[in-house]
Amino acid sequence: MHTVFYDTKKQMVSLQGSRSTYAIKLYNSNLPMHMYWGPKIGSIKDPGTFFSHERAFAIRVKDRDTSFFIEEMHFEYGFSETGDFRIPAFSIRDGRNYPVTGPFETVFRIHERKPEIQGLPAARMKKDEKLESLEIVMSDTLSGLEISLHYTMFPEDDALVRNVSFHNRGDSAIRIEKAASMSLDILNRGFELLYLPGVWAGERRVMRTPLVPGSISFGSTRGISSHQFNPACALLEADTNEFRGSAYGFNLIYSGNFLTEFELNQDQNVRINMGIHPDSFEWQLEPEQRFDTPEAVLVYSDGGINGMSGQFHRFIQERIVPPGFKHRERPVLFNNWEATYFNFDEKVLKELTDGVSDLGIELFVLDDGWFEGRNSDETSLGDWYADRKKLPGGLRSFGEYVEKKGMLFGLWIEPEMISRRSELAQLHPDWHISNPGRPLSEGRNQLVLDLSRTEVCDFLIDTVDKLLSSALIQYVKWDMNRYITGFAALHLPVSRQKEVYHRYILGLYRIMKTITEKYPEVLFEGCAGGGGRFDLGILFFMPQFWTSDNTDAVSRIRIQYGTSIFYPPITMGAHVSIVPNHQVGRCTPLKMRACTAMSGNLGYELDLRRQKVEELEEIRQQIQFYKKYRRLIQFGRFIRLQSPFDTNEAAWMFLEKDGSDFIFFWFRLHAEAEKAVSKIRLSYLVPDKIYREDSFPLEYTGSELMHGGLPLPQVEGEYASLMFVFHGN
Ligand code: GLA
Repeated sequence: MHTVFYDTKKQMVSLQGSRSTYAIKLYNSNLPMHMYWGPKIGSIKDPGTFFSHERAFAIRVKDRDTSFFIEEMHFEYGFSETGDFRIPAFSIRDGRNYPVTGPFETVFRIHERKPEIQGLPAARMKKDEKLESLEIVMSDTLSGLEISLHYTMFPEDDALVRNVSFHNRGDSAIRIEKAASMSLDILNRGFELLYLPGVWAGERRVMRTPLVPGSISFGSTRGISSHQFNPACALLEADTNEFRGSAYGFNLIYSGNFLTEFELNQDQNVRINMGIHPDSFEWQLEPEQRFDTPEAVLVYSDGGINGMSGQFHRFIQERIVPPGFKHRERPVLFNNWEATYFNFDEKVLKELTDGVSDLGIELFVLDDGWFEGRNSDETSLGDWYADRKKLPGGLRSFGEYVEKKGMLFGLWIEPEMISRRSELAQLHPDWHISNPGRPLSEGRNQLVLDLSRTEVCDFLIDTVDKLLSSALIQYVKWDMNRYITGFAALHLPVSRQKEVYHRYILGLYRIMKTITEKYPEVLFEGCAGGGGRFDLGILFFMPQFWTSDNTDAVSRIRIQYGTSIFYPPITMGAHVSIVPNHQVGRCTPLKMRACTAMSGNLGYELDLRRQKVEELEEIRQQIQFYKKYRRLIQFGRFIRLQSPFDTNEAAWMFLEKDGSDFIFFWFRLHAEAEKAVSKIRLSYLVPDKIYREDSFPLEYTGSELMHGGLPLPQVEGEYASLMFVFHGN
């Protein structure tokens, strides 16, 4: 299928999705200009001369050429130090330490396949799939640097992936100080930025703010993508809502330090840059070497925020997560963390196992505290073998017990970390990240292993491999519980010191790739103190992530709602926990906790030995219900209906892809007096289908539900929730 169309006469390329177009023009043979991104248009006739005039204070890029004004033009990769005074996409020094400035001699090349990206996860191509890809090659004759902008359109989801490679074809080393994965200039249309700021236990809050003259930027310098800012964001036209209007979504397939910048200038131009955070980055590129940036994903939707989410959700399922998990149902799990913390032994674990197997749980996850000497968070990270005091028979024997009870066995690990009090630290006292001569900075009483070192990564691959082959482990919760600080690289030369944060991520990805490819059947769930590394980079290797350490239903409704804007519910681990809740102290009904957790991959994380018989019966029924409908929940279309950030209520639904059955969830966060009768309008139903809910019973046409709305019964009390299953005929 053709997706890239090149008009050689006009020097214009368009990338065509099924409902969107992205167009680029090569101006003056050296300026790749952004021409268009939005609803699908066929051929583009615009000659791009709109910009060719001179203005006061215009900087002439070349000699006395006054035919264009660079600061006003819309580019595909923002220049630095050329008279384009917006935030540059790149900053590079040549062998003399002089700035490498454009414009560069530029050509378009079209390839049959998306190019490989060295060492980084990237959108997956199917076997033997042909999908055209555009390369814009900008060559700097002076330094020999070649900058290639790569573009591939995945037409089914209107997802355009972009990245940049830098190839040193000169004969002296080049220093890259900033290298955005994508950069783009578009004319402001009253844009508002939607992004997801947060905090530990309060990840991914929905924030929408107008762009104002100047710049807005967010990112991470914590070594991981972070609880504070997720890389995903969107530009919305001012009247765009969940169901209508233009949404331009962005995400980055990367798990380390990143920076996203939006700058609105005097010409109503919006520049967008997204990529590795330049504050903690530099790369020395020797002759003949190539550096590839992470890949960015751009999605255009004219169907509002839900439309954009749907495209991202499908794209993640089809092109990001490991292919073996694309269609695989996720088991209902039990996790012992909030039930026992570090305080357990085999007897306790067996009691828990006995209790949960009877309820229909399919996977028993043994969380932190199982390995040698780990009775608190002050010790033992690195010593990944069973504590015989707690597990006299070792992991294998306990795993067999779990299996005998008819469940899979899962294990928590935190391989990237090392405790000062550990055998590993005795054996390799110099393997952790440090800054010699300065105090060691600890977080949660632990240090981080230096994954920029090959031998440390090799050791971890070997250790995790041995662990997985030693017992019957079919699920792994891969945790990462601190930010990275004070990172000096003892093994790297002076000129490469600022490469360490990116090298850490390259090391991490090599480990994850090797392990997950060797154990393709094992279900991996990423975790970083909850959702501190919930990003496309990790999802490429691990198809789900522990969404947040906060298991309080009210908090979770917001967290899952925010997360769902860019990530499908099947990527979210969600557990029912005890009340009063351990993170916020709130008591919510079991029903609300279950409705919330069922809206992701359902798990239970509480001491079921202390639950009343009626509660256990309720849990048994919840699990039965979830199993019956989990295909719909995990693989159906997720639609947000009402935002808990704007109102005291939240509502969403999961719809079969063919528009037939759906499950509707509604929550009220706090009790209200004199509550008016309310109706919620549903979406994406088949207008003339009859939808029936048997338990109430209710019956409506699709049109009625979409235009008139679903009337909600009056529900009394604090933390109310409703769940309806409709079957369409
Ligand atoms: C992190 C995780 C928790 C739990 C603990 C164990 O905080 O997010 O779910 O696994 O570590 O120490």
